Amino acid sequence: MFTLLPLPFEKDALLPVISEETLDYHYGKHHKAYVDKLNSLVQGTNFEGKTLEEVILSSEWAIFNNAAQAWNHAFYWNCLRAPKESNLPEGQLLEGLLQTFGTFEAFVEQFSTAAVNNFWSGRTWLVKDQEGKLKILNTSNAGNPLTDHYIPLLTIDVWEHAYYIQHRNARAAYVQSIFSLINWDFVTSQFMKN
Ligand code: FE2
Repeated sequence: MFTLLPLPFEKDALLPVISEETLDYHYGKHHKAYVDKLNSLVQGTNFEGKTLEEVILSSEWAIFNNAAQAWNHAFYWNCLRAPKESNLPEGQLLEGLLQTFGTFEAFVEQFSTAAVNNFWSGRTWLVKDQEGKLKILNTSNAGNPLTDHYIPLLTIDVWEHAYYIQHRNARAAYVQSIFSLINWDFVTSQFMKN
């Protein structure tokens, strides 16, 4: 049985960037629906009892889509926290970003451009490859970097359901403001543990 874990913050913690109503729909309806659907799809199959990661790496079509979206959303929530001024990464993660992108601002610029220009309902990710190199990539639909052997460090959901209630069609405004919410401690923990 796959479970919908509680949000790692209060429903009003992400204001003013992400509203409680957005979370009511995005977490309470969309994310929950992926978990519920996955549970009904795997009943009586070999996927019962596997971890979400194992299902993602060995399934396709509806089971893959719902498993990946369940994982993607849980990961996205972990990437967020209450807004902070001067919200910057530190230590080895910052060093890695500087080595790859030159400046932190250049990283934000490249990440934001990728997110705004992601044509699909999908996500933008910061990942680490098998050699430890950092990379920004876009996925569409339920795409997840684990299937290409990348280690996900950070993701921003750019499906319209992530921002439409509050920001309407202004994806760029959502992407720009979300940098104040990034939980760099979580991103660092992913960078360090793998
Ligand atoms: Fe989403």
